[in-house]
Amino acid sequence: MKPVKIGILGLGTVGCGTINVLARNGQEIARRAGREISIIQASTRDLKKKRSCATASIKLVQDPHEVVRNPEIEVVVELIGGYDPARALVLEAIANGKHVVTANKALIAVHGNEIFAQAQKKGVMVAFEAAVAGGIPIIKSVREGLAGNRIEWLAGIINGTSNFILTEMRDKGADFADALKEAQRLGYAEADPTFDVEGIDTAHKLTILAAIAFGIPLKFKQVYTEGITRITRMDVQYAEKLGYRLKLLGIARRTNGGVELRVHPTLIPERRLIANVDGAMNAVLVKGDAVGPTMFYGAGAGAEPTASAVVADLVDVVRTLTVDPNNRVPHLAFQPDALVDLPILPIEDVETSYYLRLHALDKPGVLAEVTRILADLNISIESILQKEPHPNEETVPVIILTQRVREKNMNEAIARIEKLASIKGKVARIRLEHLNADWK
Ligand code: HSE
Repeated sequence: MKPVKIGILGLGTVGCGTINVLARNGQEIARRAGREISIIQASTRDLKKKRSCATASIKLVQDPHEVVRNPEIEVVVELIGGYDPARALVLEAIANGKHVVTANKALIAVHGNEIFAQAQKKGVMVAFEAAVAGGIPIIKSVREGLAGNRIEWLAGIINGTSNFILTEMRDKGADFADALKEAQRLGYAEADPTFDVEGIDTAHKLTILAAIAFGIPLKFKQVYTEGITRITRMDVQYAEKLGYRLKLLGIARRTNGGVELRVHPTLIPERRLIANVDGAMNAVLVKGDAVGPTMFYGAGAGAEPTASAVVADLVDVVRTLTVDPNNRVPHLAFQPDALVDLPILPIEDVETSYYLRLHALDKPGVLAEVTRILADLNISIESILQKEPHPNEETVPVIILTQRVREKNMNEAIARIEKLASIKGKVARIRLEHLNADWK
């Protein structure tokens, strides 16, 4: 059989990684796919740039439209990233009857509903394994491997940059800014690193995971998103002393009131496997009713780990080129007409445990005032820790861990505590999840 002809949009780190993996493992890949996969054209802004991959057999062009309009090309691999011009190019490729493989989480999270609708109309595939957690085959695992389950919840460390920063802060006592610089130097961060540290990249990926886990449309705008920029070394260290690790988690969970979609720094008991996922590594914990908790771990970024997912998608697409479009695995795991628009729970109605850090005057009765407020709002305390005062400071740091409480009540408690004359400054609050296997 003739090779399948591929065009790539964007020859950056992942583009070159894909070329290298296809060159190195071409024979194995052809044995799996049933046909050879041949990259015939690629678009790149800088035609003369020195690259870490061999491009002699590939026609390089500056205009990406040439690739999506090339009648020889059957599959377009979109590796430009970002919303525009990626959206227009992908839609044009689909309109031209081409299948698409993309690593673009922002594009799928924000424009996926539109893109999948167009792809369905044209009977083409849009595969996006590389968009979430790099090399971990999490899309395929949730969509196909766990298809017999009712997925109850999932929680993921799905931004390598933030995990790297939090690990450096804990292990080396590094400052946030220095750790971010190091992550950028190592090439983990997005072009705009605020996407990493403000939780937006995690929210993009969580949007995609929630859709395929619960059979809901992509709802990026409704994800509660809080990043790690307000985290201090002090909190990382206090949490450690209490037996907790701090991670930026994306959490999607079904409750009777609606679906929780939230991204925020989260304390996790240190004995949990996911609490020990360090550096730039990613992990996703998925709880299915039949299988119980499962955890998927691996590299969430980088040239070849991401290329591993891109090439796996290419193999999937090539294998099913001749299959009746109605018999393919649906883009969002559930048949398009069976997606259910479940309501998303506002963050004020979400229940979690909390870590609070307050700075109290070192005098009798102060803690009693604080615990009175918590009791009045029906908030149970799990533990309290008073730290030694710093020399020359009039206040002592007090750490309180609470049991599960609705966020609305906690907001009210914090507002009342901050008004106390004996409490100085703002109360720092970090949500805490035990991620027990029996959490429903
Ligand atoms: N900036 C992302 C991360 C890259 O740090 O995980 C992979 O999506």
